[in-house]
Amino acid sequence: MNLELATAGESHGPALVAILSGLPAGLVVDKAAVDADLRRRQQGYGRSPRQQIETDEVEVLAGLRHGRTLGTPLALVVRNRDHKNWTWGMAPWPPEGEPEGKGTKPVTLPRPGHADLAGVQKFDLADVRDALERASARHTAVHVAAGAVAKALLAEVGIEVHGVALSEAGADEAAVDAARKDRDTLGGVVEVRAGGVPPGLGSYARREDRLDARLAAALMGIQAVKGVEVGDGFALTHLRGSDAHDEIGPGLRRTSNRAGGIEGGMSNGEEIVVRAGMKPLPTLMKPLASVDLETGEAASALVERSDVSAVEALAVVAEAAVAWELARAAREKFGGDAIGDFVGAWRAYAERIAWPPR
Ligand SMILES: Cc1cc2nc3c(=O)[nH]c(=O)nc-3n(C[C@H](O)[C@H](O)[C@H](O)COP(=O)(O)O)c2cc1C
Repeated sequence: MNLELATAGESHGPALVAILSGLPAGLVVDKAAVDADLRRRQQGYGRSPRQQIETDEVEVLAGLRHGRTLGTPLALVVRNRDHKNWTWGMAPWPPEGEPEGKGTKPVTLPRPGHADLAGVQKFDLADVRDALERASARHTAVHVAAGAVAKALLAEVGIEVHGVALSEAGADEAAVDAARKDRDTLGGVVEVRAGGVPPGLGSYARREDRLDARLAAALMGIQAVKGVEVGDGFALTHLRGSDAHDEIGPGLRRTSNRAGGIEGGMSNGEEIVVRAGMKPLPTLMKPLASVDLETGEAASALVERSDVSAVEALAVVAEAAVAWELARAAREKFGGDAIGDFVGAWRAYAERIAWPPR
């Protein structure tokens, strides 16, 4: 059985939950490392004051004993501390007493660029909140927790994954300040690199096996990501073949890495390099034109506390997504009910292909 991830949770509901199945038994999971990634996700210039309300922390309900996985489903919880302001508005059961706190009035002003309008149409909802609560990127918190567990598994075989925001508008303090002043938002680009990945993760056998396709789907699965590049990506399209590929030298070493570590849908032993482009966030303090779904009249879109830029947070979320997909691909290649089986299979494989090249 390979790794599977199921998540649930609304932005202002009681908690976010994730169930990770298929982890080998005996993997050491460090709470401090998971919490450190949760903190990283909350940082970055341009985040909303919500990040001060939430100090995310992982709780484990099942699958772990004394810091080691049991080989059974691992159940993670990240509580929404902000829920205390929404106990009536986001009550899972019909609430008792007078409406109080946030979320008591239906939202009828869909935001362009968000899931609001198509969400209420698709699911026949009277309150846009019923769509936006899950569409919100808040639940990326629990994906980051899962990614931290995936990174622990990858570290067992010497793979490290790291995401950074590139110096684009949304990661630049002056640009963020200017956008905030104009009550506007920004996007940007993040890059994730994975080192120590042996050749042969993923496969050319079927379209859905391809590592590049899997990484692209994982990155595009993150809210507001509108483009993905592998290696030199679109820049390669302007080159001649003689300038675009990575020649193979003595010891099977490459002299360049334009392919971003993936050829034929498989890792090729070079560093994996992927980028994700984020659109400017859709909730504007200077709202765009919309229509009130109750009256049918022209109106301004919903204004709700929101980030100016979340590019640095995206770097952490994208790192987690890449880590999860690489862990799946590694688990597929090396199997392992127990962590020792997984590491042992990796060692035998590395020996067979004499990797890393010396
Ligand atoms: C880490 C992160 C934080 C985000 N924060 C916000 C936010 O504060 N306000 C907002 O309008 N959108 C935010 N978004 C983007 C929206 O969730 C996203 O644009 C929306 O769900 C619509 O999906 P789409 O952009 O993929 O079409 C964030 C996205 C990420 C990855």
